[in-house]
Amino acid sequence: MNPAIERIREVTRGTEYEGRLFLVGGIVRDRIMGRPPTEDVDIVLEGNALEFARFLHRKGIAEHRPVTYPRFGTAMVTIEGRTIELVSARRESYAPESRKPRVEPASLMDDVMRRDFTINTLLENLHTGEVLDLTGRGRADIEAGIIRTPTEPQTTFYDDPLRMLRAVRFAVRFGFEIEPVTYEAIVRDAERLKIISKERIRDEFAKIMLSDDPDKGLRMLSDTGLLRQFAPELLEMQGVDQTGPHVWDVWNHTLEALNSLPKQADLVLRLAVLFHDTGKPRTKTIDPDGDVHFYGHEDLSAEIARRVLNRLRFPAHEINRVVRLVSMHMRIGEYREEWKDAAVKRLMRDAGADMPDLLALAYADRYGSNPHPSLEGLNDLQERIEDILLKVKVEELESPLGGREIMDLLGLAPGPKVAEVKDFLCDEVIEGRLEPHDTDTARRLVIERFGGR
Ligand code: CTP
Repeated sequence: MNPAIERIREVTRGTEYEGRLFLVGGIVRDRIMGRPPTEDVDIVLEGNALEFARFLHRKGIAEHRPVTYPRFGTAMVTIEGRTIELVSARRESYAPESRKPRVEPASLMDDVMRRDFTINTLLENLHTGEVLDLTGRGRADIEAGIIRTPTEPQTTFYDDPLRMLRAVRFAVRFGFEIEPVTYEAIVRDAERLKIISKERIRDEFAKIMLSDDPDKGLRMLSDTGLLRQFAPELLEMQGVDQTGPHVWDVWNHTLEALNSLPKQADLVLRLAVLFHDTGKPRTKTIDPDGDVHFYGHEDLSAEIARRVLNRLRFPAHEINRVVRLVSMHMRIGEYREEWKDAAVKRLMRDAGADMPDLLALAYADRYGSNPHPSLEGLNDLQERIEDILLKVKVEELESPLGGREIMDLLGLAPGPKVAEVKDFLCDEVIEGRLEPHDTDTARRLVIERFGGR
């Protein structure tokens, strides 16, 4: 049991709060489902949560003064290093087109009815352990695997349209079905997602992408019309046929590729797979033999990835990594066993620390092309990279001289010439004609080739 919950139970025993505090939301749901308990604890009470938070602080168990949100009747405390959300049972009503609710104190029944899904409405009495199922459906819906709103879905989604995305997230995370009336309401109201902040959409979208079934999540997002609201570019891949080894259109190829990723694949890699072919629809050409080509699609895909991820306010460091992987993904596609070691080294230098992800993306790309993909080339490349790494470090595949030194040596101003000289030195290192730390020879080579002052 969570030690924070234990402490709250102890200090409230014999007080006015005994028997009136209820765990709610994910913690109760996950316990009933036999899933590992979340760190998040939500406690609801009929009464004033702000006063209760102050009570916990007075008793010395809350580690800092409570953070309170009087307008919502909620407070946050930290106990035993864990964040506890305290909520006054409440009813919310919203003026049309406004995200600011009018909040009134209310009964536990009102409180559960304003929540998102029946599976999240079970209340567990903190002292007796009794579980209240006030909607009468919470437990049954958990057992049957159903996502259903506690009240008319239009009302639930009107109160917070982000819940439409949460429905998909819970369905994917638990392998549940969205109940048909709830589903229909999502399809009807999907457009209302537009009033939700991009940051909140991003967080839900990221959770869907990180689930065990991102392909199922994306299909649901597409079928419900939700995806159209925040990443319509992805839909363009649907129905775009391709030839060669491919048996699926670009959209289904992408989903198959995602599906083939190892479970531990991080968000950046998953997003790179999602976007790697988004440039295909607009670069498609068909030659006289009927073969389909997508020349330069990786650059357009990278541009689209940047645009969509910026729109969703992903952090710059994540966007940059996704964009790099997407724009480089064809480099591996071009690999042939005839490549010289220098060519493999050049690829390694360009990919730097992203090499493992770039390989993982290439494998996913292959697995997503047909049910029996040929992996020989990729396996060969991976082995060669491993062999090279036994002998050299990627950092050593660099020019021994930096830009500043090159400018001083040749009396150059900053400009493309500096990069050209640096590339030349880098190639000499990769080809094995120059040691990575041999700055003297590097200087001599530069002067011989590019002339001194
Ligand atoms: N909730 C809601 N509407 C939202 C967000 C949350 O009704 N848009 C309610 C739900 O009852 C939910 C609880 O607040 O169970 C806590 O929300 P949150 O911590 O976001 O989700 P959990 O259900 O606890 O799930 P998770 O395991 O993802 O934390």
